[in-house]
Amino acid sequence: MRSLPSPAAYTEVMLLGACFYNPVRIVWGPGITDSISNIITDSNLGVRGILVLTGRKSLEKSGKLGVLLNQFKKTEIFLYNDIPSNPEISELYNIKAETDKLNYDSIIAIGGGSVLDMGKCLAAFKGMHIDKYNELELSIINKDYQNYDIDIPVVAIPTTAGTGSEVTSWATIWDKKKCKKYSVEDERLYPGLAIIDPMLTMSLPLGLTASTALDALSHALEAYWSKRSNEIVRIYAQKSIELIIKNLNNLLDDLNNLDLRTKIAQGSLYAGLAFSNTKTTACHCISYPLTAKYNIPHGIAVSMTLAQFLNINREFIMDKRKLLCALGIENIKEAEGVINNIFIKSQIPFKLSDYGVKKEDIGNIIENSFIPDRMDNNPVKITKELLKRVLEDIY
Ligand SMILES: [Fe+2]
Repeated sequence: MRSLPSPAAYTEVMLLGACFYNPVRIVWGPGITDSISNIITDSNLGVRGILVLTGRKSLEKSGKLGVLLNQFKKTEIFLYNDIPSNPEISELYNIKAETDKLNYDSIIAIGGGSVLDMGKCLAAFKGMHIDKYNELELSIINKDYQNYDIDIPVVAIPTTAGTGSEVTSWATIWDKKKCKKYSVEDERLYPGLAIIDPMLTMSLPLGLTASTALDALSHALEAYWSKRSNEIVRIYAQKSIELIIKNLNNLLDDLNNLDLRTKIAQGSLYAGLAFSNTKTTACHCISYPLTAKYNIPHGIAVSMTLAQFLNINREFIMDKRKLLCALGIENIKEAEGVINNIFIKSQIPFKLSDYGVKKEDIGNIIENSFIPDRMDNNPVKITKELLKRVLEDIY
């Protein structure tokens, strides 16, 4: 009879068995979108009619969108330029109804996380005939789209540096009245192509530059300590944290610096690759009711509790020394100062009371924070009592 391996042997097997999968073709570099048509042709996605999604009017006003789209001489372009931020199921329903009649066979989503996520949602439901809002709502809850063909390629072109959506296989959709956040997720929703041009982030104002970079920092930290983390994930996450910590403060002082924009875009991409294989943990779970009910921007809502969870999870973090080194600190207690400095420098309030949250609301926030698959992914089991302490700490 063979004896069971010792715990040390289990660890070795886990490390040897580390698995990493990400099928997104990534094209990267400042100014790369000047050749967008050639890049898409070279990617063999076989596009004939493209639905182009954008949300940022500034992209259109600056003339950049026109320059991008003019490159498609022989392709039919359908432009939908009004994607809202943090889109709700009702908005997806209306946009699907409006765009379903168009003869498109691929999607280019150019914008922040909400635009990229809308591209994935439309691709997920393209094959389904839906005439009522309730049908769409149920399909999202039950993940019915997973039983249908999903064959519309999505080209993701981020104009912020933080979302990571260009390299993940899921999208977020909201029902704010019910204080609910849903994931539309399927391996077929990985974008066929991600085109990352740091030039597109040059016009981001101070607050958005900081909050989106903090979102990326959260993706990297949560991937690092996630139950699903492994050595490959941690290599991407560590590099991401290092790039963001070393360069973000300088960028906040010098928003027109392309070199610093490029480093933060790179940090965001690496964070995206890291958490594409782990999903998120407690910080993202808590953020959803904060965004749904109090409109706290995503990047701020996720990073308000980062230092607290770094401390809570400290005993369960693998390769902790490398993480501290990437954060530029000697011990975990210093992390709070590092993160708070970013908030202060970018003039972003970071206490719940700054956003109109009342002390008596904390119970409700806790009730809406327990998202299975994300909260369970935190290395330390999170109880309601622990969450209460965290929320009181950031009140
Ligand atoms: Fe996020």
